[in-house]
Formats: sequence, structure tokens, C-alpha cells
Amino acid sequence: MKTTICKNYDEMSLVAAYIMAERVRTKPDCVLGLATGGTPVGMYAALADMHRRSGLDFSRVTSFNLDEYYPIKKSNDQSYDYFMWDNLFSHINIKRENVNILDGEAADPDAECREYEARMAGAGGIDLQVLGIGLNGHIGFNEPENEMHVLTHKTGLTESTIEANARFFASAADVPRHSLTMGMGSIMAAKSILLLISGKNKAEVVKRLFAGRITTSCPATLLHLHPDVTLLLDEDAASLI
Ligand code: PGA
Repeated sequence: MKTTICKNYDEMSLVAAYIMAERVRTKPDCVLGLATGGTPVGMYAALADMHRRSGLDFSRVTSFNLDEYYPIKKSNDQSYDYFMWDNLFSHINIKRENVNILDGEAADPDAECREYEARMAGAGGIDLQVLGIGLNGHIGFNEPENEMHVLTHKTGLTESTIEANARFFASAADVPRHSLTMGMGSIMAAKSILLLISGKNKAEVVKRLFAGRITTSCPATLLHLHPDVTLLLDEDAASLI
């Protein structure tokens, strides 16, 4: 992994936005894999700013989001669909028909996952995939398990993830118990990966990432097998390495 330690969250967000913007400039019809959560919010704000100030053009960009709660209505302000429009898509000129987000309202979630894989393949695969990491090392909603799914699938959330995400909901009871998520194979198929990790509470999982072992009990360690991963950490996240 090409690792850069940034001073703080704002610097990490800006560096991440420059990496994304560079990809959009050099390949205007690129396919971006996008992530939600607290971590990429600053990066999305910086990208929206680049669009507003210097006309960074997303008109030919296609996007695929990593995951979505299931079931959840798009209109729920905690859905990842809502998050993406709120934090990025409403502020840039991406075309609605080029935005792909797993449908938390799908009547047949397995069919939705199969169709999503087909759409990613049809778009030529993901050029640059943004990732965050869970406290337990999950990537997307690929939670620590003995066996991991290769492709996009419906899965249950672990107690640790429900607890971590409860901060966004009225209570832990309101966090959906399932999700639809790209599998580790879908993620590893991206040509390049940009992994963002910020905050003291992530220092332990970063230590695990740097322990030199690959294990499905910390799914992010599988990223060591990918040939093109850029890892941006802030000093807090890097404090134990
Ligand atoms: P966070 O979530 O960015 O809100 O920490 C990351 C994740 O759970 O993958």
C-alpha cells in the first residue's frame, strides 16, 4: 500500500479530493466507486468546492456506491442514497442516470445484487474505489467472518457495526439489521483503491492493518493483495504504528 500520513482530517480530505479530481480530469468518463460514513464527508465537500470554483466536470462520470442498508427507504435521511445526494451529487454535475446505488427498497434483494454486478461489468469495471474502514476492519459491509462473499450480496450487520452506526440514528434499535454490499471480490476488482482512515478510534484497526498478516477476521487486510492501493491516514489514526 502506498501510505501517506496527513496532519489531520482536513488535510487527508483535501489530498483525497485531489486524487479523485486527478482521475476525473485524466479520464473524464471514469467509473468511480464511492463510500459513505463519516470519513469521506470532507473529501466530498472538497470535490463539490472544486466543481463550484474551477468547474471540475463530472458530466461523463459514472458512480457505483459500495453498499446500502436493507431494507431502507431512499427518503430516509440515513439511507446511503440520501447521504450521497446530500453530500455530493446535488452539488456537482453528475448525471442522475450515471449514479448507481444498491436499492434498499428492492423487492428481490438477491436479484438486485446480481443486477448490480452486471451493471458494474457493463460499465467496464471501477477505475477508482474509495473505501473507509470499520472499527472491526470491515470494508463496505463485509464483516469479519471465516468465509467472505466474493460478489455483491445481502448480509447481516454485526453488533459492533450496529453500535458504531447507532450514532447516526435515533437509537441502536433503529439501525437496519441487514445491508446490500459489494463483496470483497467486487472491491478487489477495482483498478485502483483509495482507503481513508481518520481518528484515534481507528488507531487499533490501523495497527492490525500494519501487522503483516492477511485474515478474514480483519477484512481490510485483504487489501494487501491488491496491486494499487493508496492509503491516506491522519496522525490520530496512525498513532499506534
Ligand atoms: P466511518 O465508517 O467513516 O463512519 O468511520 C467507516 C465504515 O464503517 O466503513
